[in-house]
Amino acid sequence: MNREKRNKNKFEKNILCIGGGYVGGSTMAVIAQKCPQYKVTVVDINPNRINQWNSDNLPIYEPGLDKIVHSIRGKNLFFSTDIEKGIKDAEIIFVSVNTPTKTFGAGAGMAADLQYWEKTARQIRDAAESNKIIVDKGTLPVKTALAMERILTATDNDIHFDVISNPEFLAEGTAISDLTNPDRVLIGSRETPSGIKARNEVVDIYKNWVPEDRIITSDIWSTELSKLTANAFLAQRISSINAMSALCEKTDANVNEIAHAIGMDHRIGDKFLNASVGFGGSCFQKDILNLVYLCRHYGLDEVANYWQSIVRINDYQKDRFIFNMLHTMFNTLVDKKICLFGFAFKADTGDTRESPAIYISKKLLEEKAELIITDPRALENAKIDLNDTDGKIRYIEDPYKASTDCDAIAVMTEWDIYTKLDYEKIYQSMSKPAFIFDGRDILDHKKLFEIGFNVFPIGKPKLSHFKDK
Ligand code: NAD
Ligand code: UGA
Repeated sequence: MNREKRNKNKFEKNILCIGGGYVGGSTMAVIAQKCPQYKVTVVDINPNRINQWNSDNLPIYEPGLDKIVHSIRGKNLFFSTDIEKGIKDAEIIFVSVNTPTKTFGAGAGMAADLQYWEKTARQIRDAAESNKIIVDKGTLPVKTALAMERILTATDNDIHFDVISNPEFLAEGTAISDLTNPDRVLIGSRETPSGIKARNEVVDIYKNWVPEDRIITSDIWSTELSKLTANAFLAQRISSINAMSALCEKTDANVNEIAHAIGMDHRIGDKFLNASVGFGGSCFQKDILNLVYLCRHYGLDEVANYWQSIVRINDYQKDRFIFNMLHTMFNTLVDKKICLFGFAFKADTGDTRESPAIYISKKLLEEKAELIITDPRALENAKIDLNDTDGKIRYIEDPYKASTDCDAIAVMTEWDIYTKLDYEKIYQSMSKPAFIFDGRDILDHKKLFEIGFNVFPIGKPKLSHFKDK
C-alpha cells in the first residue's frame, strides 16, 4: 500500500481547498491544526504559490501562520498542484479562489469577476467520481450558490453535490487569531434534508474548536448576503468617521476625541472608528461595488446610491490628503522628496491590494515629486504596484535612511515601528522646513511639533510653525 493510500485510510475525512491564497491558506492551516483527524489539502493553479507553501518562505505574511504550517505540513496539511486528484479524494471541498472586481464587459468596475470561481465549479464537476459537499468560502454575490448548483448538475453523472455557503470573516494581519477565536462562523445551506445534513457536516468541522453558540446556521441566500453586508457596514464606519475628520480639520475639533466619545455608547461601539487616509484592501471596495451592482440589477437605485457613497467618501479622503500636501508645501511638489512610511493597506501584512498608498504615490508622481518608499513587509509588492509609473521612486527598508534629505514624511500604514523611531534624529537628517502628514494618526504630534516638524494629522488641528497658522 503506498503512503498516500495509508494516509487516506488513516484520516476521518479528506478536506480539499481549491485556492491557496490569503483565505484558503490560512483557513486550512487552522482547520488542519485544530483537527488532526482530518487530512487537509490545499491546491492552486499557480505552481509558484504551491512551491512557496511547501518552502520556508510562505507566499503570505500573517503573524502566527508560519509556526502552524511548519508544525503540521506533511502530517495532515498538504499543498499540491494536482487539482484533479484533490477533487477525486475529497469528501468536502472548500472553494476559495479570487473574486476580484470585473475589469471588462458588462459590469466592469463594479460586478464581481466570477471567471476563476466558474472554472473551479467546472473542474469539480468534471473530476468528481463520488458525492461531494462544496463549501463556498469566498465573498460572492447573493445567489452565486445557485449558479454553482447549476454548473455541478449540468451533467447526468449521478453524482450528488450539496453547495454550502461559509463566508470567511478573517481580517488580514489578524487572520490566525480571527480563525482560532472567531466572533461567529456562518454556515448556510438549502433547507432540504440533504442540504441540512451537509451543513451539519461543515458544522462538525468547526465544532472541533469553536463554541457551538458561535456557529450560526441559516438559509443559503441570507448567508451569502450577510458577508457583503458585514463588509459594507465595516467600511461604512470608516467612511463615516473619515467624513467627520474633514469637518474636524475645519473646526479645530479632534476626531479621536469624537471617536472616543461616540464609541463609549455601547450601541455604537468603539471598534473601526480610526480615521485614516482611507480604507484599502482587496475586499471593502470590491464588495461594496459588487453590492451596488446587485442593487442596481434589482432596480434599487436609492439603495445602490447609499452604499456607493461609502466608496465616494473613501476616494474623497485620499484626494483630500493629496490636496492638503500640495497646498501645505507651497502649491508645488516638483522635485520634492517625499518619504512614504508604509505601503501595505494596513499593518501586519505585506498585502498592498487597493492600498491607499498606491493611489497617493501615483498622484504624487503626477505632481513630479520624488518618492522614497519604506515598509517592513510590502516593498516587493510596492515595486510591482508602481512598475508602470513614470517618475523617480526609491525603495529603502530602513526608515532612517529612507527619510534622509526628504522634505516630507507621509504615514500610509499604521506599523508600530513608526511610533518608536527617533524623530529628533530623523528631523536633523531632513530638508527644512520638514513636514509630517500622518495619514494614520499614530504619531505623537505635539512632540513632533516641538522637535520642529510641521505636523498635519487627519481630523485634528494642524501644528504648523508658519505664521499663517
Ligand atoms: P487570493 O487572490 O489571495 O487567492 C486566490 C487563489 O486562488 C490564488 O492563489 C489563485 O491562484 C487561486 N486560483 C484561482 N483560480 C483557481 C482555480 N481554478 N483552481 C485553483 N486555484 C485557483 O484571494 P483571497 O484573498 O484568499 O480571497 C479569496 C476569496 O475570499 C475572495 O472571494 C475574497 O473576497 C474572500 N475573502 C478574502 C479575505 C481577505 O482578507 N483576503 C477575507 C475574507 C474573504
Ligand atoms: C476586512 C474585514 O475586516 C474582514 O472581516 C473581512 O473578512 C475582510 O475584509 C474581507 O472580506 O476580505 P481586511 O480588509 O483584511 O478585512 O482588513 P481591515 O482590518 O478590515 O481593514 C481594511 C482597511 O480599513 C485597511 O486599509 C485599514 O487600515 C482600514 N481601517 C480599518 C481604517 O481606516 N480605520 C479603521 O478603524 C479600521
